[in-house]
Amino acid sequence: METEKIQLKKENETYLITLYGKALDSRTKNPILNDTFADAVIRKIDFDFEKLKTPKGAEVSLPVRAKHFDGWTREFLAAHPDSIVLNLGCGLDSRVFRIDPPAGIRWYDVDLPDVIELRRHLYPECHDCFLIGSSVTDPGWLDSIPGDRPVIVVAEGLLQYLTEQDVIALFSRITGKFPKGQIIFDAYSLNMIRFVMLLAAARRSRPSLLWGMGDPRKLETAVPRLRLVTEISFLTMPELVERLSPSRARRAMSRLMGPFVKKMVRHFRYEF
Ligand SMILES: C[S@@+](CC[C@H](N)C(=O)[O-])C[C@H]1O[C@@H](n2cnc3c(N)ncnc32)[C@H](O)[C@@H]1O
Repeated sequence: METEKIQLKKENETYLITLYGKALDSRTKNPILNDTFADAVIRKIDFDFEKLKTPKGAEVSLPVRAKHFDGWTREFLAAHPDSIVLNLGCGLDSRVFRIDPPAGIRWYDVDLPDVIELRRHLYPECHDCFLIGSSVTDPGWLDSIPGDRPVIVVAEGLLQYLTEQDVIALFSRITGKFPKGQIIFDAYSLNMIRFVMLLAAARRSRPSLLWGMGDPRKLETAVPRLRLVTEISFLTMPELVERLSPSRARRAMSRLMGPFVKKMVRHFRYEF
């Protein structure tokens, strides 16, 4: 029996694009992430996903990105079996189901109230998983979370929508609350953000992206408990290059471009 499909209140939201990219990957013969949960969720929504403004190659780049953050999360959980996961700006991402954390882990998915409301309709409840509908810039959402365990904070595809002040305040609150942990996230370069700002100014519109990362050591000064552990250039990640540039000629071209795009998008892992 066909169940009634969920209607969307807002279309063209960024979390629909990231969900769709992962669903498309799961339909291929040789998937990168194989997020069958994403595909199942898409089928529950009454919306033509073909209409989305999905960037070229999103069915590769988004699963590669998510797989990389899943890997870092799994590593942390294996080393800290009593930890807390804060998946910030979770959107409709199914990380909690992909990772399926063992008993002992408490998992919090956090996003704006309307997104969390939609999530409640689309995903089943799971043991020791909690949904928080709040802006991450609101200091109150952390109050209900116990602060006596190690924490891993995943902020995938989120921080570019916040201001620098908000990012620093968020990280300061987190490092002030938990005894130890890691914060993992992706960030655009300052040049990329400047370009987006200029484009928005020319169009007299609001810029779509606000925060970018210059020297990652500066974050250690702004949030003194943080230490940079890993910095990875996303656009030159072997799996991404191989999938996006299947021919030898295109791979050689990617290698040539490497130094120019190295800092455009990076993945960071800080610890405290
Ligand atoms: C590009 S989507 C990424 C979703 C998910 N992390 C993924 O990779 O599929 C960005 C998400 O950040 C959320 N977001 C943006 N600003 C936020 C804020 N101030 N507080 C909480 N979530 C926010 C949006 O609602 C959206 O779900």
